[in-house]
Amino acid sequence: MNKDIVILAIESSCDDTSAAVIRNGILLSNVTASQKVHEEFGGVVPELASRAHQLNIVPVVDTALRRAGVRKMDLSAIAFTRGPGLLGSLLVGTSFAKGMALSLGIPLIDVNHLQGHIMAHFVQPEGEPLKHPTFPFLCLLVSGGNSQIVKVEGYNRMSIIGQTIDDAAGEAFDKCAKVIGLPYPGGPWIDKLAKLGNKDAYHFAEPNLPAYDYSFSGLKTSFLYTIRDLMKAHGVDSVEALSERIPNFKEDLCASLQYTIIDVLMKKLKKAAKELNINQVAVAGGVSANSGLRDAFIDYGKRYKWDVFIPPFSFTTDNAAMICQAGYFKYLDNDFCAIDEVPFAKTRI
Ligand code: KG4
Repeated sequence: MNKDIVILAIESSCDDTSAAVIRNGILLSNVTASQKVHEEFGGVVPELASRAHQLNIVPVVDTALRRAGVRKMDLSAIAFTRGPGLLGSLLVGTSFAKGMALSLGIPLIDVNHLQGHIMAHFVQPEGEPLKHPTFPFLCLLVSGGNSQIVKVEGYNRMSIIGQTIDDAAGEAFDKCAKVIGLPYPGGPWIDKLAKLGNKDAYHFAEPNLPAYDYSFSGLKTSFLYTIRDLMKAHGVDSVEALSERIPNFKEDLCASLQYTIIDVLMKKLKKAAKELNINQVAVAGGVSANSGLRDAFIDYGKRYKWDVFIPPFSFTTDNAAMICQAGYFKYLDNDFCAIDEVPFAKTRI
């Protein structure tokens, strides 16, 4: 009898179809198909995302199993992202996972996408063990749909202590990028241009919320008004015309915007770490790929004596490895879900 614990995980919460395999806690494969179809629309189109998941899911799962050298009958359980995310997208992964678990007669494990992002810190790729945080730790979870500070007390025990009351940090990056004509998703483009700009060139309004909550909608408006006022002052009606008049315009704008977003994120995290007396601090989610945020983590770590944990680039954006890791911990806890479990769209942990 096969005593290995072998988990296949499926992630389909937004616009990445991903599958991964973990055997006894070691990651054997992690395969992701991204969807280019949304680029021309400047954002994810939910209906197109579900259709692309339907096209991608069979080859992605097949490739993940082949790369792992694992047969379907070797699997102990199937983990899947249950939410939060786009319902149509989640339904594709959920239905596929249910069908496969039923046909193989193995258990199903539902995974919260946000817990998955945090569990990215515990993924152990074959031959390259990673240093991971110990409990309790704080995790700044920043993606296109979420900006939260999570207190993590165990693999399956975590609570949101602060979150955005409007836009997520990634959304602020993407929406501001759109205003200045950068492609979707704009975060990586802003990051690239920011490296060439002066962070002190422009000043944007920072929110002033109590406790550990965030807000980014005011910053977005402040960014928009700065451009509007500059257009008026220079007598032009487009960002491109402004770029021709003001040297290094987009670079300076991006550097200043990125600096402000990071400043907002880090100030609240510092407050939480100090007040809760926690010095293990991690970052997760798509925005954790940002070079300025990664540098700020290292800097704060030195200044405030934090142990900082920054995930490898491959585990920052949506991927099934992190879902597989969370699923593996749930398997060890015998925490399975019923076959009639349904996906959910809204944030919860
Ligand atoms: O976690 P993720 O892949 O998807 C979810 O939203 O769940 O995050 C995507 C977000 C997008 O908003 C994207 O612009 C942002 O992560 N992002 C970045 C960078 N790379 C990805 N934002 C800033 N700088 C980056 N280098």
